Amino acid sequence: MSPKKKDQKKKVTKKVAPKKKTQVKKPADKKTPAKQSASPVQKRTRKTPQLVRGMKDITPPYSDLWMKAYHACEGIATAYNFEYFSTPILEEASLFQRSLGKSSDVVSKEMYVFEDKDGSKLALRPEMTASTARSYITQGMLNRSQPVKLWYFGPMFRHDRPQAGRYRQFHQFGCETLGVHDPAIDAELITISYNLLRDLGIEANVHINSIGTPEDREQYVVELVGYLRSKRSYLSDESRKRITRNPLRVLDSKDPQDKEVVEEAPQIVDWLSEKSKNYFMSVLEYLDEADVPYVLKPTLVRGLDYYTDTVFELFDTEQEESSQNALGAGGRYNRLVEQLGGQETPGAGFSMGIERILFNLESKRKRAQEIAQQEGDDAVVEQEPNGPEVFFAHLGENARKRSLRLIEELRREGIAIKHNLGKASLKGQLELADKFGASHSIILGQKELQDDTIIVRDMSSGIQEIIDQKKLKKEIEKILGSK
Ligand code: HAM
Repeated sequence: MSPKKKDQKKKVTKKVAPKKKTQVKKPADKKTPAKQSASPVQKRTRKTPQLVRGMKDITPPYSDLWMKAYHACEGIATAYNFEYFSTPILEEASLFQRSLGKSSDVVSKEMYVFEDKDGSKLALRPEMTASTARSYITQGMLNRSQPVKLWYFGPMFRHDRPQAGRYRQFHQFGCETLGVHDPAIDAELITISYNLLRDLGIEANVHINSIGTPEDREQYVVELVGYLRSKRSYLSDESRKRITRNPLRVLDSKDPQDKEVVEEAPQIVDWLSEKSKNYFMSVLEYLDEADVPYVLKPTLVRGLDYYTDTVFELFDTEQEESSQNALGAGGRYNRLVEQLGGQETPGAGFSMGIERILFNLESKRKRAQEIAQQEGDDAVVEQEPNGPEVFFAHLGENARKRSLRLIEELRREGIAIKHNLGKASLKGQLELADKFGASHSIILGQKELQDDTIIVRDMSSGIQEIIDQKKLKKEIEKILGSK
């Protein structure tokens, strides 16, 4: 290539390059807003994708309450010797069809089902009990010492009509005990769910019933169908259809039109075998011993097919009760594992609706605030300070640079302190300390940095003390210990 040709080539590249640069940069160029907004194409690309209907972001300050609930769940589950476990959100759709029942509302109306790229049918899990049984089989948990006690906390999906406390993505905390058929297990599960709500500040009503074994139910269903046919004209359209398809579910109807017929219906307890009856009586005796109050609900059958024997639901005593606002529910499922191709394995469990529990707690807090405001009582209006009560503040750029090391050293010693490295002014930081409800602030300034000392400030009196940095951990422990 001649030098001339080389030059020409260079020139061509030079010409093209700046043009490309301008074309790519233009949409992001902040200096020409008028031109950008004039273009409809650019406007469209800026529209923010919206939160999907029925879903919820968990953001502060709500997330504080969320984490409290999480820790309460974790605490009670581990205290009762449950082990944490988790399964994928996606499962084969047939898992839920075979366990919850094709005619259940969850499977027939609410399940998110889609075809995967290989043509297989998958579902976003609408609940965890079926996944637990599937995992028990596929992970060979039968070989572990029985019972296997598992707890979980995670998102579930149901395409229900969204409203307060009802979402399309919601979270359940649950405990499942597999491998033992014993009334003490049913009672333990009910006790945990009841006491979790109590720990969180909700007094619950436990509704309980026994639906016996499928054999017990055979005779009962004949009786029930006869009764429902005789009352056919009084029933809702949906319940009329269910008389032949799944008559038990009529008892579970949410339609007010069905209420009277359901109340007069034959009761399943009268059809239980002696064995099932004795089992149920024994569960109730355990609950009496554990001081867990309950209400017998002969029409409680639950809307999922896998249940046998004990079924229960929990409600807030301060709220109207309908299956629409249960805070949690559960029961025994002695045939489920076998039904899914595993060996005969009894099981029982419960799941609590986290959003619903938090919604109730928030409503209670707001009500208490309103009452307190009406009565002029500021004490209740103020929110309880939570978390650590020591705030770390820095003064000056060099101190700010050292802060991270100090915070990390304390963290390694097991001490988490509040701080905000983004705030430069001491005044701003101390205001934040007040907002956090910190009783003390520790302040690292230029002088302290040089002397290896640090200031400890009592936030209410304003009294400050200078201590050796080496004594900081002990000092903070002293402060936190004197809460
Ligand atoms: P479930 O009654 O379908 O039972 O749901 C349990 C709890 O999850 C309900 O009591 C409610 O608090 C919450 N929940 C249900 N749907 C929604 C929703 N759309 N939005 C917010 N919260 C909701 C079960 O899922 C069974 N797996 C329970 C069980 C565990 N049985 C044995 N082991």
